[in-house]
Amino acid sequence: MTKYWIGCLLIPFLTLSLTSCGDMSVSEGSQPRIEKEHAPRVIAHRGANEWYNESTITAYQIAAETGVDSLEIDLRMTKDGELIAMHDETIDRTTNGKGKVSDYTLKEIKSFRTLELDNSKVITEEIPTLREIMETFRDTQSYYIETRLVNGELAMEEKLIRLLEEYQLLNENLVTIQSFSEESLLKIKALAPYTELALLFRKGSFSLEKAREVDFPVIGIESTDVTQKIVNELHKKGKEVHVYFIDKQTQKEEQQRVMEYQVDGYFTDYIHFTKEILAI
Ligand code: G3P
Ligand code: CA
Repeated sequence: MTKYWIGCLLIPFLTLSLTSCGDMSVSEGSQPRIEKEHAPRVIAHRGANEWYNESTITAYQIAAETGVDSLEIDLRMTKDGELIAMHDETIDRTTNGKGKVSDYTLKEIKSFRTLELDNSKVITEEIPTLREIMETFRDTQSYYIETRLVNGELAMEEKLIRLLEEYQLLNENLVTIQSFSEESLLKIKALAPYTELALLFRKGSFSLEKAREVDFPVIGIESTDVTQKIVNELHKKGKEVHVYFIDKQTQKEEQQRVMEYQVDGYFTDYIHFTKEILAI
């Protein structure tokens, strides 16, 4: 049975009962310790990638129907300057093609198909553009979009902001932009000063001093770098701490560990699990 169909079967049931979706049990009788209005953000990492090909329209639709705070979207730029949803620099891992996104035009990118990763080539779907995602969800969802430099250049920021303006998403405060590139975030800030920005730190490269001093309201940290002290210090500076996970094997344990520190957001690959442990 594919991940998608497992997800389809589980969603209605879990929506009603919020019973455990994973192999890690949560202690019976655990109480919600976080008020609804202060609940951490559940950010669907690359869509509902637990159940469907990551970063596809369907993966985002499943996440939206499951109920999350934001849809997380990684951006890459094609040779002819179109923004698409793709995490990796190449299309090798997630599609039936090979090569760098930046070496293909959009028309060429559209000739490839994403693949279902865990059950090998059962489900296929095309790679979406950011515009197609915006067109699908418009202002019904919040977006947590990751920018990056393109061959060392600030190439995607203006296109991104123009697109968000076209769909009137900036006015509605429905967008957070995240990046490992401070330069990229500063460009976004110049173009759209009121957009919420999140500076990401790579695993093992977190600097509390840097995180405290930058003028961004959200700091994104890889889970194994997160400590209670870091969260407390950033909260004192009025910043939110959003946590991402690079090891799916330990992600559930890590989510429970950082929950104890009262972090403010989870880039989750396990939406139901995260909602369950947060009791939201
Ligand atoms: O966007 C936060 C988190 O997604 C960073 O990790 O490599 O999955 O983009 P990555
Ligand atoms: Ca990302």
